[in-house]
Amino acid sequence: MADRDVATVRPAGPLRGSLEVPGDKSITHRGLIFNALAGGEARVRNYLDSADCRSTMACLSQWGAEFERDGDAVIVRSGGQAAFTRPAGALDCGNSGTTMRLLSGAAAGLPFTTTLTGDESLRKRPMARVLSPLASMGAAAGGADGGTAPIRLRGPAGGLRPFRGRLEVASAQVKSAVVLAALRADGESVIEEPGPSRDHTERMLAAMGAEIEVDGPRITVRPGAALRAMDVSAPGDASAASFWIAAATIVPGSALRLPGVGVNPRRTGAVDVLLAMGARIAFEHERIESGERVADIRVSSAPLRGTRISGDLIVRALDELPVIAAAAAMADGVTEIRDAAELRVKESDRIAATAAMLRALGVEAVEHEDGLDIIGGGIRRGGLVESRGDHRIAMAAAVAAAAGPEAVEIAGAGAADISYPEFWRDLEAARDGAAV
Ligand code: S3P
Repeated sequence: MADRDVATVRPAGPLRGSLEVPGDKSITHRGLIFNALAGGEARVRNYLDSADCRSTMACLSQWGAEFERDGDAVIVRSGGQAAFTRPAGALDCGNSGTTMRLLSGAAAGLPFTTTLTGDESLRKRPMARVLSPLASMGAAAGGADGGTAPIRLRGPAGGLRPFRGRLEVASAQVKSAVVLAALRADGESVIEEPGPSRDHTERMLAAMGAEIEVDGPRITVRPGAALRAMDVSAPGDASAASFWIAAATIVPGSALRLPGVGVNPRRTGAVDVLLAMGARIAFEHERIESGERVADIRVSSAPLRGTRISGDLIVRALDELPVIAAAAAMADGVTEIRDAAELRVKESDRIAATAAMLRALGVEAVEHEDGLDIIGGGIRRGGLVESRGDHRIAMAAAVAAAAGPEAVEIAGAGAADISYPEFWRDLEAARDGAAV
């Protein structure tokens, strides 16, 4: 990576070797938060040391939890949620929606006001989706302009009421906030989700002793059982892996092995999409680690054809759509993405940012309110891509550049620190065929 936060990515030779992707972001956040709520001492191993996860630690520290880094692990020490103390100032969630939304659920169960804020991007993102269900449970919950950060939450004097109903968005962050509040409610909650969002919260909390039952889209939470601190080991991040899966698919002659990646079915929508497009991807040595499905992934290059991505598949591939779009640019035919309006309220408007990235590289892209058409046939030229401060746009642009005919400059490349601080180093290793 060069100065001024601009990365220049030149067309790559085959990507070869074995690449270990960083620890899972969603599982790292949850390991830190749930152990802080449980109290006691536990380790989160193979944790993701990225800006977002550091935001979570900084916020939890303001409530009284303590963290110590020890090799590839972080040790969490905490008196538990009941011992949390009133923070001196606002909790700064940085760029991290997961931090703000999950901590909202915890804040709704505390007897003092917590204010949560974040960077410019996060302060624009919709928070009414967590504030209203938490308010319906009796929490005092409010934000700026009716639903943006800074947001303020405080639990009611008489205790939270249970939640019973269907959530408005298929969002693991919203679901997790309501589940965390439901653990402090005075009765049984039944939470229905409108789509199959990632279920790491349900799995981890149940393993820590919470009474949580999942029946299809319905999650029943019975409060009362004490949470036990628990060592957690984060698998390789499926979303980080998706950049290499896409890159090895579209750069001819590539063959990559990605050991120890989390392959929870609610996280592998991108693999399903690429397989439907003709990709060669195999899961080997599937196993269960820390309650999550893990595999070694093998991927080699393959010609792709256009496809249509909509419905529940969108929920299972949401974070990966920018890099899927980069791969779709190399496919034969048109790829249609629909039912993806959620992309407009991510770290950037990812429909607009992805379309702009493709157009900068000579690829035709048609924007829709809830998606995008990508006219395949190849990445036609180099150019300048703006990450718009969005880590996944920066990394998707690098994947497109690796498969393209000319160098691509990526402005705002440092955004990758949000979820994948070693991305640029790994890109160099894979393109030299020297990833080990
Ligand atoms: C996440 C949930 C998803 C995802 C985000 C991480 C999580 O967001 O996009 O990167 O860890 O719960 P939504 O819940 O808003 O869909």
